[in-house]
Amino acid sequence: MSRRILITSALPYVSGAKHLGNLVGSLLPADVHARFHRQIGSDVLFVCATDEHGTPTEIAAARAGLDPRRFCDEAHARQAETWRRFGLSFDHFGRSSAPSNHALTQQLYRRLDAEGLIAERGVRQVWSPADGRYLPDRYVLGTCPHCGDAEARGDQCDACSVLLDPEELIAPRSALSGETRLELRESRHLFLRQSALVERLNGWLDTRSGWPPFVVSLARSWLTADLKDRCITRDLAWGVTVPRPGFEGKVFYVWFDAPIAYIAATQDWAAAWGRDWRDWWWGEAARDSRYVQFLGKDNVPFHTVSFPATLLGSGEPWRTVDVIKGFHWLTHEGDKFSTSRNRGLSCDAALAALPADIWRWWLIANAPETADVTFQAARFATEVNKDLADVFGNLVQRVTRFAASAFAGPIPAEGRPDGLERALAADVTRRVAAIRAHHEAREFRRAAAETRALWARANAYVQEAAPWSAIRHDRLRAAVVTRVALGLVELCATVAWSIVPSLAASAIVAVGGTEAEVPGWPGDVEDVLIGDRSRARVPRPFAPVAKVDAESVGAACR
Ligand code: 2FM
Ligand code: ZN
Repeated sequence: MSRRILITSALPYVSGAKHLGNLVGSLLPADVHARFHRQIGSDVLFVCATDEHGTPTEIAAARAGLDPRRFCDEAHARQAETWRRFGLSFDHFGRSSAPSNHALTQQLYRRLDAEGLIAERGVRQVWSPADGRYLPDRYVLGTCPHCGDAEARGDQCDACSVLLDPEELIAPRSALSGETRLELRESRHLFLRQSALVERLNGWLDTRSGWPPFVVSLARSWLTADLKDRCITRDLAWGVTVPRPGFEGKVFYVWFDAPIAYIAATQDWAAAWGRDWRDWWWGEAARDSRYVQFLGKDNVPFHTVSFPATLLGSGEPWRTVDVIKGFHWLTHEGDKFSTSRNRGLSCDAALAALPADIWRWWLIANAPETADVTFQAARFATEVNKDLADVFGNLVQRVTRFAASAFAGPIPAEGRPDGLERALAADVTRRVAAIRAHHEAREFRRAAAETRALWARANAYVQEAAPWSAIRHDRLRAAVVTRVALGLVELCATVAWSIVPSLAASAIVAVGGTEAEVPGWPGDVEDVLIGDRSRARVPRPFAPVAKVDAESVGAACR
């Protein structure tokens, strides 16, 4: 039976334009991994959702003159379309505001309460009479008491990086209205007693393997005696209501309900397809399933501390994550891509400039796996032009063109491969296995680098075997090389499909390969190159991969 695997990407916030940093930091590698697993025959479930609750959504909705639900309906649909155009192959793209998530969030809260892991405490919060609302810490601005910067936020001063409480700011004001008449009011809130779970969480972490070292270090740095209990409620209207007397008018903190939406999205998908969500999430049913999460480094604490605390603390047999694949930042001229600061390249601007596969290739080949990576238009253009136009595109073009002009129809099946082809088959077998191993290990840069090396090897074979010379004096030898070259292109495209699905699919069609929704991972490379499967191919035209102009990419960046 095929192996069951659940793949989730961090849930993108519903509001704000999404940028390439959002894409490369979780969504795209998750998609590549899901596609690869489908190719090797795993039973894949790839879910994601928009993260819809919280103050930023309420404020964005108010600014748009819409109620939050309507605002989220529209923003969710826009985002789903962007991801579809990027080729993200979710089995389900849900919403954290779905009724299933509300129900599950309340259920888990009740379990945690029954386990004695919820504490009710008084919290002093900034109330803005002019805005008519409590202000979250980062919506209070003022002068930093440490460095004097006038734009410090109530949670942190960006100028000197010091962590702050809003009460420490000099001359505080509302980030929403600029109003300086602010009050401190006490409000009752619920805390998840994470501090009581440190030992269990560390023990749980001991049982995980295959995580990038920086994710483990970050997790361990949180799981110490200093771990604070987390406030899981907010004085807001838009969110999951709190089923507790005295908490009318409050909702759960967005970071409490958002990861629960991974489960709720699975439930919604399972209900639609007649499957049982427990097979991925519950006790014995999920025993043979594997769960991999993809997320950016800022999300690590919530996925290594808060969400596991929710699941383990519930006392129920929830399935927790097996592997967290974390990513560093994609930066733009040294700064993190950012929606709120309008910095970098939005996904929609990127798609308006170039086909999705061009972005997918570069982002995966340069995924910020071990350190931040800088996006720079000129470097981007040079690299994609070399890899996709000069190496891969050129390979497909010259092979299909030659095949069509030399043989006009099916390539003759006669002639025997010689030592050159047998050496090629052995080498390609090894390389395809290496690419597979990198994908299995979620080593995306390595997978792309090895794919690129395979393309170069294929070009070198065609160059050396030179069918255009052979055709002049030995038609059968030219037929052998052409058949091998067509099979080689199919292999090159098939192993690249998870990264560049459209480009790969058109190359597979061009070399007379089988059109399939998911091209299966090559099982027997020798057979494709020099065995029975190398026969009876009819090539078709292949459009060249257009070169990217660095200036137009630079102009699309903000
Ligand atoms: O950082 C973010 O974009 C969050 N919306 C990620 C949430 S991931 C999950 F927990 F929902
Ligand atoms: Zn400061």
